[in-house]
Amino acid sequence: MQVFVKVDALREHLDIIQKSGKTVGFVPTMGALHEGHLDLVRKSILENDVTVCSVFVNPTQFNDKKDLDKYPRTLEKDTSMLRSVGTDVIFAPEINDVYPTGLEIEVPDLNGLDTLMEGEFRPGHFKGVVQVVRRLLDITEPDRLYMGQKDFQQFTIIAHMLQQINSPVTLVVCRTKREKNGLAMSSRNQRLSTDIKQKAGLIFRVLTAVKKRYGKESPSSLMAYAQKRLSTPDFNPEYFMIVDGNTLQPIQNYQKGQYAVACVAVWSEGVRLIDNMILEKG
Ligand code: PAF
Repeated sequence: MQVFVKVDALREHLDIIQKSGKTVGFVPTMGALHEGHLDLVRKSILENDVTVCSVFVNPTQFNDKKDLDKYPRTLEKDTSMLRSVGTDVIFAPEINDVYPTGLEIEVPDLNGLDTLMEGEFRPGHFKGVVQVVRRLLDITEPDRLYMGQKDFQQFTIIAHMLQQINSPVTLVVCRTKREKNGLAMSSRNQRLSTDIKQKAGLIFRVLTAVKKRYGKESPSSLMAYAQKRLSTPDFNPEYFMIVDGNTLQPIQNYQKGQYAVACVAVWSEGVRLIDNMILEKG
């Protein structure tokens, strides 16, 4: 496994690989890795000749400076986890390598996909995500890009961006990895107490209950039901929405065959947890 900090050195290495016709899979991360990230890496290793994983806490996607400061930084542990699964290349750049002075990274029109749900509560977040992913793709020029389903809105926006810029990169979305109680794995879980981690299985149980009842009750009554169940002394829901999986617009009335996804954000112990579940495939 090789670790690169500088863009030029990484490019030199990847040029040799790519010129020889080998495929490259790319897994972007902000570090603080968990099994969910490792699953993305494993899938990339299976499907590509070489797997590159980036570890970069991107400041432009944090609308809250305190959240950026508190974001766990565990490069040494991340490196050994990535080595253990057979990652070929780690790219762990400094901020000036990603955003050198004078470089403009164009963020294409996001067609309103960035304004709802996460976008409403984290203004500017998705522009920052698109900016960094576009820059990292320009650097790594992969064949495939691996992202998790947990960040449903994120991968939907990245898929849109790839289309807008006519990118040849294939986006591969991988299933959400969960703890035994159903809690979606996330780097932010590290900041939760053991007690809350156990109780947070509630989010998955509520999503599952909504999925069972979808089509039998109206989306608005299901959203109200979920909000109520998630409002407990330990949890404070920010939103629970049932949206069209392509447009991310709220679904007002059930329509058989419409791609429907329930998306949720919940606060607990000062940590914001997100999750989602596909209710019906389009
Ligand atoms: O999902 C994440 O960890 C980040 O948003 C990403 C895609 C690595 C961009 O910084």
